[in-house]
Amino acid sequence: MKNNKIWKGRIKKDMDKLAENFTFSIGLDKELYLYDITGTAAYAVGLWKTGIINKGELKTIINGLEKVKQNIENNKIDIEIYEDIHSLIENELAGEIGEVALKIHTGRSRNDQVVLDEKLFLKETIIDVLGEIIVLQENILKWAKNTLDVIIPAYTHMQKAQPALFAHYLMSYFQKFERDKESFFNNFESCDSLPLGAAACTGSGYAIDRELLKKLLKFKNLDSNSMDTAGSRDFIMDFLFSCSKIMIHLSRFCEDLIIYNSSEFSFINIEESFCTGSSIMPQKKNPDILELIRGKSSIVMGNLFQMMVLIKGLPSTYNRDLQEDKKILFSACNEVLPSINIFSRLIENIKLNKSEINKTLKEGFLEATDIADYLVKKGESFRKAHNITGEIIKFCIDKKISFKDLKLEELKKYSPYFEDDVYSYTDIYSCISNKEVDCGTAKKQVILSIKRAEEKIETDKQNLKIIASRVPVFEEIKAFVDDL
Ligand code: ARG
Repeated sequence: MKNNKIWKGRIKKDMDKLAENFTFSIGLDKELYLYDITGTAAYAVGLWKTGIINKGELKTIINGLEKVKQNIENNKIDIEIYEDIHSLIENELAGEIGEVALKIHTGRSRNDQVVLDEKLFLKETIIDVLGEIIVLQENILKWAKNTLDVIIPAYTHMQKAQPALFAHYLMSYFQKFERDKESFFNNFESCDSLPLGAAACTGSGYAIDRELLKKLLKFKNLDSNSMDTAGSRDFIMDFLFSCSKIMIHLSRFCEDLIIYNSSEFSFINIEESFCTGSSIMPQKKNPDILELIRGKSSIVMGNLFQMMVLIKGLPSTYNRDLQEDKKILFSACNEVLPSINIFSRLIENIKLNKSEINKTLKEGFLEATDIADYLVKKGESFRKAHNITGEIIKFCIDKKISFKDLKLEELKKYSPYFEDDVYSYTDIYSCISNKEVDCGTAKKQVILSIKRAEEKIETDKQNLKIIASRVPVFEEIKAFVDDL
């Protein structure tokens, strides 16, 4: 059997099998192989620049790394015998190129190496998440533009409040996802500083050219304190907070749609191919995808808390507890990416039940605030206008009639300010157009907000391209070395 350990000097006894298994992280961190290889390639260049290895050795290492990469990708390695991905790469490299490989860890520790791998992994993951958010936002915009004439009741306290454009409601979620997108762009920046050079905790004992490593690995900044680097995972916590935030937003959107899809509301129809049946009740068509996303949000929020709790009591610098961070991080990534993806496909396939929606607009005195506003515009104070309107509504409820059933003479008994134009000022369309304020539901404003959103999406697509060019590629480092 191969030597699968990279620390066999001090500890002579073989490890207890169960204890050994307990320490292994390979099952999870094998996902990081490409980042570990890319990081190791750049580090080898750094060792050559410092004079630890010569040019021939550098080229041998890079070619060996390429071979290891191929062997992993072609399933030629017995991955599970190794403790972690770092030991695997170093040992397999030694298997390919012999003694030279044993120089690769000079001035490096798995403590800074794992931070590097995680940062590179996260930079790519964030790019994927941002891509998914942009598709979701585009689908929301498409839906909003196609439904500009649909009016729904807006609710507060789950009680009918005022009429709103359905598109305005949709744009409220666009805005939430807009903030999520900004958070993920910021997370990319917090992953963008080079940990290498920190070594185990006090810094490398070799004059490693960190500027060169930074350039090769396409980082913007350098981590500035080795003890901080070895023991901090703030960049993961920040990312998990963004993940939790977008899952909360998705969860609320799901909750709305589950309610709108219920037979009591019947505002929407979810495409059958996104629903499931019941094993016992033959009539059922359940919105399980939405419920699952709502459920998965709890996992991701849990991951954020797991991460915070993992860190909070740790003594300074690296402690093995930190190995658990990958379980937490990967769990969140595994929930967030598919949740955004399936949600944006699901909303593309929702139909609105306009006739059912329209029925609900007739009840609930949605125009009440506009009646009060009408009186204010005629000269009444708002508080009195509010009371007068309240009394009128109470009367209508008792008589089981609607506001427009009241004749002008009856209205005048409540206030001399009522005139004939009150009916047109308070019809459902006017209630919408009366909200001319730039964040309001007037159609003109909603159209403007859609336009602004479309422009923002175009800018963000460009920004996404820019950050996508800020991830290192093994082949580019290899080409650099080939040219030396
Ligand atoms: N597998 C470890 C982790 O993920 C790598 C670092 C190990 N460092 C150590 N000093 N044992 O955290």
